[in-house]
Amino acid sequence: MKKVSIGLLGMGTVGSGVAAILRNNSLDINTRAAAEITIKKALVRDIGKKRPDLENILLTDQPDEILNDPEIEIVVEVMGGIDQSRDYILRALKNGKHVVTANKDLLALHGPELFATAQEYQKDLYFEASVAGGIPIISAIRQSLTANRITSILGIINGTTNYILTAMTGQGRKFEDVLAEAQELGYAEADPTSDVEGLDAARKLAILSSLAFNSRIGIKDVYVEGISRITPEDIVYADELGCVIKLLAIAKNLDDQSGIELRVHPALLPKSHPLANVAGVFNAVYVTGDAVGETMFYGKGAGSLPTGSAVVSDIIQVVRNTNFGANAMLVHDHYRNFPIKSSAD
Ligand code: NAP
Ligand code: HSE
Repeated sequence: MKKVSIGLLGMGTVGSGVAAILRNNSLDINTRAAAEITIKKALVRDIGKKRPDLENILLTDQPDEILNDPEIEIVVEVMGGIDQSRDYILRALKNGKHVVTANKDLLALHGPELFATAQEYQKDLYFEASVAGGIPIISAIRQSLTANRITSILGIINGTTNYILTAMTGQGRKFEDVLAEAQELGYAEADPTSDVEGLDAARKLAILSSLAFNSRIGIKDVYVEGISRITPEDIVYADELGCVIKLLAIAKNLDDQSGIELRVHPALLPKSHPLANVAGVFNAVYVTGDAVGETMFYGKGAGSLPTGSAVVSDIIQVVRNTNFGANAMLVHDHYRNFPIKSSAD
C-alpha cells in the first residue's frame, strides 16, 4: 500500500483529535484512502509541554522541518492565528504540498489569496472543519447542493455561544462560569471574544455564503452582534414569551437587484422551532435551495474529535484525489473482509 506522510501545524485541541482518529480508525481510514497515512511530524509552540496521549508523535518547534520536508505531502494547519498560518500555508502550497485547514479566521480574511495560490500550484486546499465542526456542511454546499440556486442559510454555527446560552437557559447558570467551562472543554477560540461577540459565527457565515452565492464575502459584509449583553433577565422574559434566545447566523439571497443580506445576532425563537432545540455544543444549519427545498444539517460544532473528524475526512479526500483524480469517489480497490451475517443467522 502507498504511504502518505502528513505534517501537522499545531497539536492542540484539534490536532490531538486528528492524531487520535488517525490512530484509532487507521484500518478504515487507510482502506478508504488506499494509502497508509501517518503523521511524520507536528509543529508546536512549546516543545517541553507534557502531552501524555501524544508520546509517539515527533514534535518540532521549527516550521521548516515540515514545510521543507519533501516526504510530507499534506500539511494540516490546526494552529490558528492569521499571519504565521497564512505564511506557512502559502509556503506549503508553493513547496508542492496539499493543505487542509480548520482556520476560519484566516479563510475569511485571506481566502481569495490562498485559493488562488492553491490553484496556481495545482494543489488541494480543503477546509471542512472551518465551519460547524464535525458537520459536513462545506462538502454539502460545494458538492451535493450545487444544482441549486441557494436562497437562504440559517444556522447556529458557534458551539461556545450555544453552550453558554443553553446552560444559562436550562440551568440558570452565570455567563462567565459557563464560558470558562467551554474554554476548558476546548470549544472556545484562543481569544473567546471572537465567540461571544459573534465574530467567529460571522467568519463562518462569510465562508458559507461565499460558496453558496458564488461571491467573495468577507467579515466586513456581515452585520455582527454577539451575546455578551444577554442577561439572565432576558432569558427569563424570553421563556415567558414561549421562546429561547439563540445566536443565529442568517444569509438571504434576496434577488439579483437587492443582493445578499448577511447578519449574526441573538434572536428570539419560539420553543417549537427546530433550531430552539439545538442544545449545548451542537450546531445546526438550514440550507434552502430552489430545487431541493429545505435541508438541515446537525451535529457537534466544536471539540477535539468532532472537528478532527472533519479534518481527517479532508485528508482522506486529498489522498484519494491524488491517487485517483476525478474518479476518487468511485474507486473501491481496497476492501476489508468482514464476516457478513444475514438477518437469519
Ligand atoms: P489550540 O488548542 O490552542 O492548539 C493550537 C496548537 O497550535 C497548539 O499545539 C500550539 O502549540 C500550536 N501553535 C499555536 N501557535 C503556534 C505558533 N505560532 N507556532 C507553533 N505552534 C503554534 O487550538 P485549537 O482549538 O486546536 O484550534 C486550532 C484551529 O482550529 C484554530 O484555527 C481554530 O479556530 C480551529 N478550530 C477549532 C475548533 C475547536 O473546537 N477547538 C473547531 C473548529 C476549528 P502548543 O501546544 O505548544 O501551545
Ligand atoms: N470556537 C468555535 C465554536 C470552534 O465554539 O464554534 C468551532 O469552530
